[in-house]
Amino acid sequence: MATVALAGVTKRFGDVVAVDDLTLEAGDDDFLVLLGPSGCGKSTALRMVAGLEEPTSGRITIGGRTVNGVEPKARDVAMVFQSYALYPHKTVLDNIAFPLKARGVPKAERNEQAASVAAQLGLGELLTRRPGQLSGGQRQRVALARAIVRRPQVFLMDEPLSNLDAKMRTQTRAELVELHERLATTFIYVTHDQVEAMTMGSRVAILDQGALQQVGPPQEVYDRPANLFVARFIGSPPMNTLPATVEHLNGTAALRVGAGGRVALPEVLGNAAERGHGADVVVGVRPEHLRPVPPSATVANGDGIRATVRVVESLGHERHLLCEVEGAGAVIARVDAEAPVPHAGEPVLLGAEPRHVHIFDGATGGRLGP
Ligand SMILES: Nc1ncnc2c1ncn2[C@@H]1O[C@H](COP(=O)(O)OP(=O)(O)OP(=O)(O)O)[C@@H](O)[C@H]1O
Ligand SMILES: [Mg+2]
Repeated sequence: MATVALAGVTKRFGDVVAVDDLTLEAGDDDFLVLLGPSGCGKSTALRMVAGLEEPTSGRITIGGRTVNGVEPKARDVAMVFQSYALYPHKTVLDNIAFPLKARGVPKAERNEQAASVAAQLGLGELLTRRPGQLSGGQRQRVALARAIVRRPQVFLMDEPLSNLDAKMRTQTRAELVELHERLATTFIYVTHDQVEAMTMGSRVAILDQGALQQVGPPQEVYDRPANLFVARFIGSPPMNTLPATVEHLNGTAALRVGAGGRVALPEVLGNAAERGHGADVVVGVRPEHLRPVPPSATVANGDGIRATVRVVESLGHERHLLCEVEGAGAVIARVDAEAPVPHAGEPVLLGAEPRHVHIFDGATGGRLGP
């Protein structure tokens, strides 16, 4: 167990700033997920912790010890990659036992330890096979077992599930969470898949263009995204975001959205959103919080955004209404499979409870209000 800390870490490759002044900590029993789009610097950050890249500036510590300049093998970390990098001619048992062999552990002892870890991962029946005779999921578990057998202070994983099919990914996801609980060791896990981040992470750190956007427990990040980037990156379908202006009428604040849409704002949001008249913001509402009602319905405060249904998608357990808000853009409302819904082409009034309305600064994208 060891805390991993990055303090003001920057990595440049020539003109490219791959990681930009990153300060981040993974505590003793954290499952920290680094999440972000392709090229945002996730792998580079992880490789710097592993010692495979040196930071251009900043400090990395593992268990309180500065590891800048320390060789990878002296850092007591184990890394699992997307490519499993197994030895094709060695058996499963020998692949798993290999790190112990490299350490000079006697054969009987290393085979016993390797077999025990293999059994924990459901590989007990496959010890004499070679990697070519395994499925992708089994190979992935061999790579994991090979990391576990080393009993490192820190596990580093770079998109380890991306070669698996959807079903196998879901299963292995759960297994990794269990493994983390059993080993009670620091995990840092890189993915561009927000579902993996949400389901596996004890904390999620979201990166964009090398820079940290937000870090926190997944639910907190989902409920209170710090900026538009995070709001749009987490959630599927993503949060609906539309340009809006803040209006103050008779002491209450409201948002005007598109042609003829109005949403009352709770006072605290209204105040945060700008005191002036006509301030530009972006309003965000998650698809599950948009309530479509017939345009004739009486809505509290006369609130609602007028839209036209373009497409109704049925996913079996729920439906997605793709709607066009005149003069503002497209939004998606998620509704129950059984709920009555309007048909494509029909007008609809979209409402949301004030507590589910997010607003962001139109210029900076930063979250406004609590
Ligand atoms: N060895 C290198 N030389 C030059 N540029 C590099 C090198 N390694 C990474 N980069 C650049 O640094 C940036 C971050 O790369 P990195 O591999 O960390 O991204 P990533 O978030 O892991 O992306 P992906 O999800 O595609 O794996 C990218 O712009 C990439 O092109
Ligand atoms: Mg990568």
